[in-house]
Amino acid sequence: MRPEFKTRLLQAAKTFGTPLYAYDWQTIATQLERLQTAFGTAKIFYAMKANPNVGILKRLNTLGVGFEAVSGGELERAVLAGATGRQIVMNGPGKLNADYIRAKEIGARIILDNADEAPRAAKYAAGAETLIRVNPGLQVSTHDHLATGNASSKFGVSLADVPTAVQNAERAGLNVIGLQMHIGSSIEDPNDYALALERMAGLAKQIGARQVFDMGGGFGLQFDLAPLATLGHQAAHAFGASELWIEPGRWLVAESGVMLTEVLERKRTARAFAVVDSGMSELLRPMLYSAVHPVENLSSTRANTIVDIAGAACESGDILARDVQLADPQPSDILCISVAGAYGSSMSSHYLTRPRPTEVLLENQQWVVLRRRDTIEEILRNELE
Ligand SMILES: Cc1ncc(COP(=O)(O)O)c(C=O)c1O
Repeated sequence: MRPEFKTRLLQAAKTFGTPLYAYDWQTIATQLERLQTAFGTAKIFYAMKANPNVGILKRLNTLGVGFEAVSGGELERAVLAGATGRQIVMNGPGKLNADYIRAKEIGARIILDNADEAPRAAKYAAGAETLIRVNPGLQVSTHDHLATGNASSKFGVSLADVPTAVQNAERAGLNVIGLQMHIGSSIEDPNDYALALERMAGLAKQIGARQVFDMGGGFGLQFDLAPLATLGHQAAHAFGASELWIEPGRWLVAESGVMLTEVLERKRTARAFAVVDSGMSELLRPMLYSAVHPVENLSSTRANTIVDIAGAACESGDILARDVQLADPQPSDILCISVAGAYGSSMSSHYLTRPRPTEVLLENQQWVVLRRRDTIEEILRNELE
């Protein structure tokens, strides 16, 4: 975390209240530069599911970044951010008819996830430029819920079925401009990409030259991107593709963001807890993926102690972090849960009728409010009877 950002966090908690998502624009910009340096001419389609805040999308759009959308709502976010046609790619295993119609209207490319999807795609998005998502059938090094490139996952077309998928799409009048893969999120071992890309390149003879090769996202935060980029360009070359596409989400935004939360209580059962004013409604990753987020006490220099950070939800699984070593947390201390810029706010919910947190961005040394906290009235507004 940049020291200049960290020193501003206590003030942000005071000004905007907690729980609060705070992002550092400088960190996002630096991550983008690192990607661009490593991948050179590759086109970046930011997987906005990681953090779809329109303020962040607008800023990325001005830097020439395209977007990957996986729902009708995400398509609208891309449009609102200023993206047009070819700067948007539509993906997902269960697209609605309305999604194809809107994607076609906008001029977005569509990624087919299923060998039998073509007739419906062609009916609602006649003649669209499409890619086929391939499932390379690997054991992927990440949490089970995040692995999408293993043979039993619901995603993509198995290697053996790719020629049929291409044929089906072309017979339906779709223009198949390339292949796509996305093997999962938070991938731990870069060799997974080497294996997947080798299997993808093996398809080149069967399906012939194509304009685009899309190697997806999922890059582990610790990866050295240069060798990965070389592999991606080589795979694109095998297809005679003039364009390599990448779809990073977490890599661009995870380290830019923190969630700030206030300690409400200390408590001891058979374990020691700090109970905080956020939980699984605001940050689901620890519960959903057993994700480990670093936690720090910003308010105190007391001696360290070891506690679990207990979420506020009435759910035993709602523990934001286990066995954390930090300055002895006391009520009203502000804790900083870091590496929370990706899949933090975007996965937050109104579970327990809790308002989603405010989101702020530090840009040019100023806090900008990107999204204000919901009110209870707003949450209840659509319940009519
Ligand atoms: C198709 C696709 N592309 C890209 C991504 C981005 O993954 P990550 O945020 O791990 O880079 C995802 C997320 O799982 C995805 O489903």
